[in-house]
Amino acid sequence: MSKQEQKPLNRTLTRSPEALIQFSKELASKLTPGVVIALKGELGAGKTHFAKGLLKGLGYEGDVTSPTFTLVNEYHGGELPVFHYDFYRSESMEEVEETGWDDFLERKGVTIVEWADLFPRLFPEVGTIYFELRHHPEGREVIEWSAFS
Ligand SMILES: Nc1ncnc2c1ncn2[C@@H]1O[C@H](COP(=O)(O)OP(=O)(O)OP(=O)(O)O)[C@@H](O)[C@H]1O
Ligand SMILES: [Mg+2]
Repeated sequence: MSKQEQKPLNRTLTRSPEALIQFSKELASKLTPGVVIALKGELGAGKTHFAKGLLKGLGYEGDVTSPTFTLVNEYHGGELPVFHYDFYRSESMEEVEETGWDDFLERKGVTIVEWADLFPRLFPEVGTIYFELRHHPEGREVIEWSAFS
């Protein structure tokens, strides 16, 4: 059964970028070493803001931007190391693997991925948590497709 046919666990409407950041910031305490956060959603749906909140909740106060020249940004010095990927910038699954994807997963940090639906096969069956961001007339909707264990 595909994810789309599953019933979402939760839907939350966030009415501003700040509200979205606050929402994911509050999830940060549930993050455990090695977890993968797979973010789906169209262009501009709020994936980077969601990542910003998670990072903030882990104690990273500085600037958070999508990875541009590299496929992955690393953050160290917070509660857990964070590896932030944006698959939109990648040509292929192989290219992602060549960044050391498997090694990052083993480093017991938090791997956050924007455009996760581009290469779904990369995600571990156990330990991946899926969120979807959606445009909404009043802001952005956050849909939780899987639960933290
Ligand atoms: N809850 C919200 N309500 C209204 N606007 C929002 C909300 N969250 C984010 N935005 C706005 O949406 C825009 C896109 O946000 P963001 O960059 O996080 O999206 P994205 O999904 O990462 O985009 P991309 O697909 O380009 O990576 C920003 O201008 C941001 O201010
Ligand atoms: Mg983004």
